[in-house]
Amino acid sequence: MDTSFATREQSRLLAEVTDFLAIPSISALPDHAADCRRAAEWLINDLRRLGCPVTQLIEGQGHPIVWAEGPPVPGAPTLLIYGHYDVQPVDPIEEWLTPPFQATIRDGKLFARGAADDKGQVFCLLRAYEAIRNAAGTPPLNVHFIFEGEEECGGHMIDELLEREPERTRADAVLVCDMSYYAPGIPGVYTALRGMCYAEIAVRTLQRDLHSGTYGGVAPNAIETLVHLLAELKSPDGKINIPKLYKSVIPPSKAEQREWGRLPFKKKEYLKEEVTGRALTGLKKYSVFDRTWALPTFEIHGIKGGFVGEGAKTVIPAAATAKVSLRLVPGLTFAQVAKWLDRAVKAAAPKYAEAEVRIVHGGDPVVVDVTDPAFAVLDDAFREVVGRPPVRVRAGGSIPVVPRLGSTGAPVLLTGIGLPDDGLHSPNEKLDLNQLWEGIQVFGRFMERFAEGRK
Ligand code: BES
Ligand code: MN
Repeated sequence: MDTSFATREQSRLLAEVTDFLAIPSISALPDHAADCRRAAEWLINDLRRLGCPVTQLIEGQGHPIVWAEGPPVPGAPTLLIYGHYDVQPVDPIEEWLTPPFQATIRDGKLFARGAADDKGQVFCLLRAYEAIRNAAGTPPLNVHFIFEGEEECGGHMIDELLEREPERTRADAVLVCDMSYYAPGIPGVYTALRGMCYAEIAVRTLQRDLHSGTYGGVAPNAIETLVHLLAELKSPDGKINIPKLYKSVIPPSKAEQREWGRLPFKKKEYLKEEVTGRALTGLKKYSVFDRTWALPTFEIHGIKGGFVGEGAKTVIPAAATAKVSLRLVPGLTFAQVAKWLDRAVKAAAPKYAEAEVRIVHGGDPVVVDVTDPAFAVLDDAFREVVGRPPVRVRAGGSIPVVPRLGSTGAPVLLTGIGLPDDGLHSPNEKLDLNQLWEGIQVFGRFMERFAEGRK
């Protein structure tokens, strides 16, 4: 591979990634459906320019899926590349130092929504492919691309497609580049992802809102009822009060725990730089790795109800809703936890309230077997470019489609070029440009080595 590609082409690459990041492809917001489509079309154009003879924009109920195939190379291995072009909403918008869809460089970092999660990383893979294609005149292996636009919003398009057409996942390896290095200079390969059960808890205590003076003292307040209920679901010590939940968890093996014990970790810096709070919360007798990788969570994402406008309104709200989610670890399944949550909410609700759980979306946790030879090829590519192989870690986050990507037997390589402080889903999300340039070389070399090894 031409290792000077990224350096030489920097200004063009910056212009291109800026153009891609300018499309506000927020999958959760219906108003941005056309933008999601534009981002998909941007990719189709790019893939055509890269010489893919097959490009498909696959449409359906949700945001389109992009499929492409590079020129066939008979006898050579096939790599399937997965990524997502959709991004999270940008609120609170006032906290962004520069507009989220106007990518801006400060201090060697590119700030924009999607810079790291995942448009910047998708771009990295596309340019790695371009670099190896230029080097040899034609790519040395078969590459198939699948990019979805519903990863961040729990959409079903890709599940339905791969259920209908599982042969699309037939490959010698699947590369998912939607993660980050363990720490600066220390790349990561992921051995597990948490699953998810996302739900709304809706409480109604009255038929209509009431005057808080006239009825205050006797009328049941829906927000008050909801927050008591939520407080019962999770104690201040971090324990989730759902029967059977913890007992079902399969703990990490001693060997895995030992490996985690060897990872460099500075709790004080982690708290200050990444978490940005004054204390870590949660189950104190477990390590931070256990709490973020190997145990379930319960988070409240937002509460809706009553009066939140300017000024004051004296009202007793009749209804309130909370958006919540549980992260799931091995031993737990989405279907099971959804049932348990429903039961726990019904049990915790007072008799005078109607409490309902509406499941929004979910997915099972994933454990990845990292013994396939493809992982050694990735290790070698990182060793060659970065100077060290990736550490084996787990992710606290989720990528719902991953089990399906591996369903026809291909090993799924979960890795990425982000850094822990990229601010995914937060204001001022960024990607360090050195990570991008380095990543183009890493994945270029990975593809070349993969092509050589498996011819
Ligand atoms: N890239 C993230 C997942 C991730 C985060 C992996 C951190 C490793 C470390 C992904 O785009 C994401 O955020 N997924 C959502 C999925 C959810 C909406 C089902 C998540 O985890 O919240
Ligand atoms: Mn992502």
